[in-house]
Amino acid sequence: EEKLGLEDDFHHEELLQSLPKCKGWVKPHFYFFQNFWSSQNIVKATISFQKNFQAKDTDIFLTSLPKTGTTWLKALIFAIAKRNRFNPSQNDHPLLNYNSHTLVPFFEFDIYGDNPNDFDFSTLLEPRIFGTHIPFPSLSHSIHNSNCKIIYISRNPFDAFISLWHFSNNILSSRSLPTLTLEEAFERYCEGMHPYGPFWSHQLGYWKASKDTPNKALFLKYEELKANTKFELKKMAQFLDCPFSEEEESGGVIDSIIELCSFKKMKELEINKNGKALENVENKHYFRKGETGDWVNYFSPDHCEEEEEKLRLEDLLQSLPK
Ligand code: A3P
Repeated sequence: EEKLGLEDDFHHEELLQSLPKCKGWVKPHFYFFQNFWSSQNIVKATISFQKNFQAKDTDIFLTSLPKTGTTWLKALIFAIAKRNRFNPSQNDHPLLNYNSHTLVPFFEFDIYGDNPNDFDFSTLLEPRIFGTHIPFPSLSHSIHNSNCKIIYISRNPFDAFISLWHFSNNILSSRSLPTLTLEEAFERYCEGMHPYGPFWSHQLGYWKASKDTPNKALFLKYEELKANTKFELKKMAQFLDCPFSEEEESGGVIDSIIELCSFKKMKELEINKNGKALENVENKHYFRKGETGDWVNYFSPDHCEEEEEKLRLEDLLQSLPK
């Protein structure tokens, strides 16, 4: 077994050397593997995920680019899908004591990350809920071939960028590493060289899936979720084949879920003020402002139009390594 492990490492090293490489954000380098940029750990985890993961028809996959509302989506879907087991208005709900990243594990970190054999699938109750930032075409075959549900959350690229810039710099400073200037970070973001980037090809993969197979893939937007939370929650429950009944709605179940998962409520929880869930990152970094349109505070009005030009889809797609 040990021998196999070494052989895998050798192949991994060989693979990495054959891939286009660029400077990373928090990790020192990113590699362009299966048409997206990520660290060597993610490349390795993606391969292991594709080889090993067995989907069930009852599974729910929550998918996104980093900083587009993943933490919120995980909380909302956990609360909706498990509401018969955990009453969202009760004061012992798991979301009050655990960060949603603990309740909904990520394939590339928690499951197929550093110690891929440690994860115990048998402890997961159905419906199992998983998270991933891996793009649609790179999901495991068993996901593509099953009748599972995939929910994607998208966000205005400028807001996602500002959120990513803050988040990365928070982690870099906590590790006493040099931070990134806004200009440098934005330049790289526009070239598609950011975690799981380019932005548009990530969106397009899931967008197309939601058009081709609307019963299997649902495409949500952070902005719409903020503006119209109740409507969007009903849409999600319907999509998951567990629509809210009239009694539930009049009994305030939807409102309890919205309240339980609200930015204000989650940010103030002890576990999110002082705890850690993922990769030794402090949970507090997942709760910054929780607003839409914050990016205008970082770009001068003169520059806005010019910057908007830079995030044009065609330009980004053309910047992909050949
Ligand atoms: P900002 O940095 O703009 O505040 P992710 O969860 O994908 O890492 O995304 C993080 C972004 O979602 C951050 O955006 C964060 O503040 C926001 N967020 C986290 N929890 C939220 C919630 N319950 N409601 C709304 N936004 C939330």
